[in-house]
Amino acid sequence: MVFGKKKKKAVRGLEGVVAAETFLSFVDGQNGKLYFRGYDIDELAGKVCYEEVVYLLWFGQLPDKEQLEDFRSELIAEMRLPNQVDELIRLSPPNANPMVVLRTALSALGMYDPDGGKNSEGANLRKAKRVLAQMATIVASLYRIRTNQPIVSADKSMDFASNFLYMFNGQAPKKLERSVFDTVLTLHADHGLAASTFAARATVSTLAGVHSAISAALASLKGPLHGGANTRVMEMLKKIGGKDQVKDYIDGMLASGERIMGFGHRMYKTEDPRSRPLRKFSEKLCKRAGCDHLFEISQSIEERVLKLKGIYPNVDFYSATVQEALGIPKEYFTCIFSIARTAGWIAHIMEQFRDNRLIRPTSKYIGGFDKKFVPLEKRK
Ligand code: ACO
Repeated sequence: MVFGKKKKKAVRGLEGVVAAETFLSFVDGQNGKLYFRGYDIDELAGKVCYEEVVYLLWFGQLPDKEQLEDFRSELIAEMRLPNQVDELIRLSPPNANPMVVLRTALSALGMYDPDGGKNSEGANLRKAKRVLAQMATIVASLYRIRTNQPIVSADKSMDFASNFLYMFNGQAPKKLERSVFDTVLTLHADHGLAASTFAARATVSTLAGVHSAISAALASLKGPLHGGANTRVMEMLKKIGGKDQVKDYIDGMLASGERIMGFGHRMYKTEDPRSRPLRKFSEKLCKRAGCDHLFEISQSIEERVLKLKGIYPNVDFYSATVQEALGIPKEYFTCIFSIARTAGWIAHIMEQFRDNRLIRPTSKYIGGFDKKFVPLEKRK
């Protein structure tokens, strides 16, 4: 009897496979809608702050004023790193990809966390707050160290988004910058069973802890087919240089079978709802920052790709110019995405822990059988 021969075909890329039930977010790919705990993202974006979204995802409801203030203070109080992790960041090679440093530093934090090794609901919640806050601190500290500037500590009087920009740039953000950055965090906070979220859930399904799962999620998000696309988008815009060069560039790329970064999505068959606000921010901020040409190139690419391939920009496309106009270097774009998505990763991790069963799919073996064994000394 040969096992595996009669099994049905594997689903490539697990497309359409339902691998978990969740209360957290719903991607309606046909209608271009995204919901967090039942709220349409169009309703939330720009009307709530990121901490409210994190609270919603973690606790199932929007906080009242007092709950929000308490939650925010708890998060801001955790925006500091153990000296050993600070030192590890300082010792990282100057040309290492910031996502690699983030993943390594976050993994190292697991060794120093007072709740390390504990997976109770209470311990996980304490770790969740620390991880979310420390993720922002790692990214800001790395940038400050690499630009030979002193590390800036969080300010209790500021919210999460302001604090990140303050710790990154060394000065409190202006109103528009704060609100755009805050909305960028909200838009990236969760997105169904994305590859990184699946990696996080699969990791904790073995009862490994929060830091292990977030490290796995970071490893997955880094790839260019996922969160790593935003950095590649900026590289492409700079390579193209001007909107008159868009047609030749895009036509050439598509003719040679290359993918256009920031376009296409497994779930959306229409416009990604996160693109709309990001496109508006991009136009406004690029004008203000004197990089309108980058917005113009982006618009031309969007028109050309839609015409030739019928595919739309995803969240990574306009978030690239938004971040560029906010003064964030392109190498850090995926790190910003990581900070934002930690909200969703943690919510999924806690959901998985509450109703866990080991995630262990199967494979269809398509190799050979009945091979004759040859001892090492006789192999040629
Ligand atoms: N540029 C050119 N062609 C594309 C693109 C693209 N960006 N995306 C999909 N296609 C084409 C493929 O070539 C393929 O064409 P074919 O059927 O003629 O061979 C078809 O569309 C289907 O592509 P798949 O790879 O099967 O679609 P899948 O759902 O697996 O891919 C993905 C989704 C990986 C996001 C894809 O669209 C892509 O590679 N995009 C570019 C990278 C990117 O922007 N990633 C970020 C995604 S959003 C996020 O993770 C936050």
